Formats: sequence, C-alpha cells, structure tokens
Amino acid sequence: MANHPEIHFTSNAVVPVSPNHYVIRGLLEIRGITQPQELDATLLGRHADAALHAEVADFVITGKLKRSMFGMIADGVFIFDLVTILIRAHIKLGDAFFMPDKAPSGWSRAQRGLHWWTAALVFTGFALGWLMVGVPLSQLLIKFLLYQLHKTIGLTVLALSVARLLVLARRSRPEWNPMLPDWQQKAAKVVHRGLYVLLFIVPVLGYLTAATAPVQIPTLFLGVIPVPHLVGTNPQWFAFLRQIHRLMAILLATIGAGHAIAAVHNHLRGRNTLVGMWRGQPTA
Ligand code: HEM
Ligand code: HEM
Repeated sequence: MANHPEIHFTSNAVVPVSPNHYVIRGLLEIRGITQPQELDATLLGRHADAALHAEVADFVITGKLKRSMFGMIADGVFIFDLVTILIRAHIKLGDAFFMPDKAPSGWSRAQRGLHWWTAALVFTGFALGWLMVGVPLSQLLIKFLLYQLHKTIGLTVLALSVARLLVLARRSRPEWNPMLPDWQQKAAKVVHRGLYVLLFIVPVLGYLTAATAPVQIPTLFLGVIPVPHLVGTNPQWFAFLRQIHRLMAILLATIGAGHAIAAVHNHLRGRNTLVGMWRGQPTA
C-alpha cells in the first residue's frame, strides 16, 4: 500500500443494459499491473447540484476483482482472493463518461415491423418460388397468378430492405448484449451484413430472371401495376440468372434460418433476444 497508494481505472466502453443500468468496461491498474475489468453501474437518480451549477447523476458502481491477478497474496483464511468493489459516484452530466444516449436502448417500432415483415415475406416467397415452378403449364392461370404473387412479394422485400437501411442509417441499432461472447457478436455482425446483402441481391436477380425469360410474362406488382422490364429477353442470360437467383435464394433462406436458430438459442439462454426484437425492450 505504501509503495502503491493509487489504483487507476480507465473506461473504454459504457454499455446500456436497461434504462438505468450500465456495464462499464475498462482497464484496472494496481501495483503497475493492468487487467481488464467490468463494473456494473446503476443510476439512482439525478439532481441539480448548486455548488457545481450542473445536473449530477448518482450512481452505485459495483465489481469484483481477484487480488491474485494483481500479484497480491491471499491465504483464503484472513485475506480472501476475491474483493468486492463498491463505489458511490456523483457524475456531472455532460462528462464524456455519461453518454448512454449514443445508442438507442431498443429496436424501434419501425425496425421491428420491417424485420418481421421481411422475415415472413422471405420465407413465403421462397416456398412460393418452388411451388410456382412446379405447377404444370396445363394450369396456366394458377401458374401465372403464383408468379405474380412471388414477384410482388420479392419486390416488396426489396422496398422494405431499402427502408430498413435508411432507418438503420438514421437511428442505428441498440448496443449489443454485453453478455454475448465476443466471437458470437463478431459472427452475428457478419451474418447480419450477409443477410442485408442477400436481401438486395436475391430480388434483383429475380427481376433480371423475369426480364430475360424467353417467354415474356409481364411483371405486375400486386397483380395490377406493370413493372417495366429494363433489359430484354435473352435465353443464355436467363439460363444463367435463374440458377444464380435460385442459389442465392437458398443461401438467404438457409442463413436466415440459421440466424433464427441462433436468436432462439440466445433467447433460451436468458438474453431476452426475441423480446428485444418483438417488443423493443433492451436485451439483458
Ligand atoms: C430470412 C429471414 C430473416 C432475415 C433476412 C433477418 C435479418 C435480420 C437482420 C439483418 C438483423 C440485424 C438487424 C440490424 O442490425 O438492423 C436481424 C436481427 C434479429 N433477428 Fe432476424 N432475420 C430473419 C429471420 C428471423 C427470425 C425467424 C427470427 C426469430 C426466430 C429472427 C430474430 C432476430 C432477432 C432477435 C434479431 C435481433 C438480434 C440482436 O438484438 O442483435 N430473425 N435479423
Ligand atoms: C426475397 C425474394 C425472393 C426469393 C426468396 C425468391 C426465391 C425464389 C425461388 C426459391 C425460386 C424457385 C427456383 C427455381 O426452381 O427456379 C424462384 C424462382 C423465380 N423467381 Fe424468385 N425469389 C425472390 C424474388 C423474386 C423477384 C423480385 C422476382 C421478379 C421480379 C423473382 C422472379 C422469379 C422468377 C421469374 C422465377 C422462376 C425462374 C424459373 O422459371 O425457373 N423472384 N425464386
């Protein structure tokens, strides 16, 4: 103690977990040894501080550290290895530390609506794709109507995805659940990005397939609004594009299903993942 009278904690992330609860991640330095440390901060309330001429937020901050990680002895009888940290903090608002409003606390109504409509339409459109291709030419009217429904669903997915990215750019997404292991967060980011890319690629390929088809069937959005085919019929391109459209659609449905399994798995592990996307509550 005499040689090392000070300990230092440098925070590098403040993650909102629920409206009044934050996880502070940072580095703790004791006796010249630096270790990563997580602290839990609970906001008790705010009050106007006359002396500081500012609003002050009162926090209780708790954490646990192991003495052995900082080269300190513990005999397990008189000195235990595990030390509980309890801090009462009064933080002047406006300090760089207190910026929880950077990320929204949950998914907005628009983001949730767009997500679930997209998911439902992708799976319906996918099933319809196989169904309509299999309908014999003898049932031409049914085949025609199913194609129009498929194309309408696909174009709606494209429009919803544009809207979704605009909302995402304006509002961003809630913080990642702090309980999620690092590798899972990285994997989820890659999967989400992949899904966004496929949500554009698949409908565009579908549109090009329809436009290049040797037998020209008009594309009628909702069965009535004509969508012009900007490229002409081309049997070679059609043969190629329909394969790629099919392949990318299979990839989208497979990754979408894998992503859904991961979401359910995380939910069952108590991370509230589905509630977050369904009702907009922060995950915990
Ligand atoms: C093909 C269907 C689906 C697609 C294309 C899709 C796409 C996405 C994307 C791109 C995100 C990231 C949102 C963003 O960062 O803006 C997301 C999040 C999410 N999805 Fe899906 N999804 C699909 C199906 C499902 C299904 C079926 C479930 C549930 C069973 C589900 C549950 C979730 C949840 C809970 C989140 C939020 C994850 C978080 O909080 O980080 N998704 N989805
Ligand atoms: C999320 C969107 C979409 C999904 C998941 C999807 C999925 C599929 C699937 C699974 C098939 C059957 C594959 C086969 O056997 O050929 C198919 C075929 C087809 N799709 Fe899509 N599709 C989507 C969007 C679109 C769009 C926007 C259009 C056109 C505007 C379109 C036009 C077609 C056409 C013309 C075929 C038939 C190709 C053939 O005759 O073999 N699709 N789609």
